[in-house]
Amino acid sequence: MISSTFIPSAYSQSIENGGFSWSAPSNIALVKYWGKKDNQIPANPSVSFTLNNCKTITELAFVKKENDGNFSFDLLFEGKPKEDFKPKIQKFFERIETYCPFLKEYHFTINTQNTFPHSSGIASSASGMGALAMNLMSLEKELNPDMTEEYFLQKASFLARLGSGSACRSIKGNMVVWGNQKNIEGSSDLFGIEYPYAVHENFKNYQDTILLVDKGEKQVSSTVGHDLMHNHPFAEQRFAQAHENLDKLKVIFENGNLEEFIKIVESEALTLHAMMMTSMPYFILMKPNTLEIINAIWKFRNETNIPVCFTLDAGANVHVLYPENVKDSVLTFIKSELVSFCQNSQYICDQIGAGAVEV
Ligand code: DP6
Repeated sequence: MISSTFIPSAYSQSIENGGFSWSAPSNIALVKYWGKKDNQIPANPSVSFTLNNCKTITELAFVKKENDGNFSFDLLFEGKPKEDFKPKIQKFFERIETYCPFLKEYHFTINTQNTFPHSSGIASSASGMGALAMNLMSLEKELNPDMTEEYFLQKASFLARLGSGSACRSIKGNMVVWGNQKNIEGSSDLFGIEYPYAVHENFKNYQDTILLVDKGEKQVSSTVGHDLMHNHPFAEQRFAQAHENLDKLKVIFENGNLEEFIKIVESEALTLHAMMMTSMPYFILMKPNTLEIINAIWKFRNETNIPVCFTLDAGANVHVLYPENVKDSVLTFIKSELVSFCQNSQYICDQIGAGAVEV
């Protein structure tokens, strides 16, 4: 499939005004997306668990205006104007205009809120761009009611990707692959697809408890981060490794081998951080408490044989991943031994979820 698939032909309907509301969840990558080419094409394939509780809810109201060649929109965060979010939306609209030629014909009011605490250090770009893309597709569907459900979701993921790469994995559940991988049929660099093969019971309702170690501003923006992979001495090997890890996970998803799952997932997290530590300029995004938590998880796992592991994003927070059937013992462990390493003892309990929904 090529990008031009998503350029619509003339619309069959016209609509003066209206509104929609969609929620889209965050997601947590198991094989990480780190490094990209032009037009938000990932340097390697990734796979993620779609989350359930951490989400963005976005209302989009629209009213027809004169097409004066400009985008026109108001941006509200929790009902209040939020000027500093506007440039990101402006850039998003510029990137997707070819695919949404109606954008300059409406004035939009975008009202957005997150279910997770503001400035918790949890990236809201994936859920935010996911929710906005779904709203824009709802509008396009009004203009073109013949659109299929499959096209709707694929294009929503395609648009979300142009807003933020990982956002394309926030449309569908429960596991999403983004990026062309030879052994995953239908996988594409242009949008995320629902993981298409058998998944073992062990992964049903998989739990993710997010430990908020550092809620500060991101030290490295994702744009700068991905750029670090250009001319990175280990880039090619890393990209090849992501393909191999997806192959290995495919077997693991089917047979439910949690020991092997843990090896891949923790190695991916540490490799992501290793890439940052070995780039020029170099960064350490983990904090002392990130390491305390990792060591405590390893000790607990060794002592109990409970299959709990961690993964990391491009920051200091730790995602603690575990199957549903060990939930009680892991939560007891988290509360007694890990929460003290969190800023203001904050953590968020989440689990695998089904993707974006209209609200
Ligand atoms: C470390 O999707 O935030 O979370 O495409 O520049 O918006 P942009 O990057 P972004 O990168 C996320 C990287 C990651 C790993 C992952 O989610 O796969």
